[in-house]
Amino acid sequence: MSDIVYFNGDFMPRDQVRISPNDRGWLLGDGVYEVAPCYAGRFLRLDLHLDRLGVSLAKMAIEGVDLAEIERVSWELLRRNDLLAAPRSLVHFQISRGSAPRTHAFPVPAVPPTVYGFAARFARKPQCETGGAIITRSDFRWSRCDIKAISLAANCLANQEAQAAGAFEAVFVRDGMVLEGSHTNFFAVQNGVVRTAPLGNYILAGISRGVAIECCREAGIPVLEEALPESALAAVDEIFLTGSTTEVMPIVAVDGRPVGTGTIGGQTRTIAELYRRAAEAA
Ligand code: PDD
Repeated sequence: MSDIVYFNGDFMPRDQVRISPNDRGWLLGDGVYEVAPCYAGRFLRLDLHLDRLGVSLAKMAIEGVDLAEIERVSWELLRRNDLLAAPRSLVHFQISRGSAPRTHAFPVPAVPPTVYGFAARFARKPQCETGGAIITRSDFRWSRCDIKAISLAANCLANQEAQAAGAFEAVFVRDGMVLEGSHTNFFAVQNGVVRTAPLGNYILAGISRGVAIECCREAGIPVLEEALPESALAAVDEIFLTGSTTEVMPIVAVDGRPVGTGTIGGQTRTIAELYRRAAEAA
């Protein structure tokens, strides 16, 4: 049976969605998306996901999306797909500038945005238990990584390279600094201090990044929002990634070399546990 999705104001079975070949998302990658995780009917920071969606839309000058409606639809998608009791689920919204004959400049007059939303289950990644591996790659993305844009070709290429190398994630390095993964934020721990790239135009302001920083504060672990030089990677004690569906994932190998002792570190365990509790208590 086809699941129930949201498309331009209506709920319908997924196989009834019809998107125009003139859609600017398809033709130009001209749109934004958002993914919010939900634990047994409790969203983890849905408000922050909606705020970030609003920021992405504003930075892309896409108008005509009602965030209160997106919030209502988020709950409705879970309800209609019987996911309110699922241990882990997500809602995903994909919004393009709309459908119009192909021009680089925005259509005149403006057209309504295309809004597609769906809900799905997701599972805890096995590497959260065992520890995962990452590879490093030079950051060949654009320089507006703060926008959650749907044009993800560079992220796909990099992640595919990681998968081919038997790793979970590719982490981008720009100007010698380790920034973030293809779909996760990056954290390193050295001498008891947690370090992650600062917010700005080179990383996405991950919501789970923010929750992990709160967890550090709760545990009294100092956090430095300064990017780690790539040259310091070999000397860090622990690494972990965060993401809405990745949660807190310990990383035990970088480019085929062990991180620290090559086992899951103590600070990472603490932060992962506090993150789990935050998700349960959401
Ligand atoms: N990815 N950095 C990038 C480039 C991302 O695409 C994501 C999320 C994150 C983590 O953000 P958050 O903690 O808000 O999930 C960081 C989503 C989940 C995806 O593409 O599926």
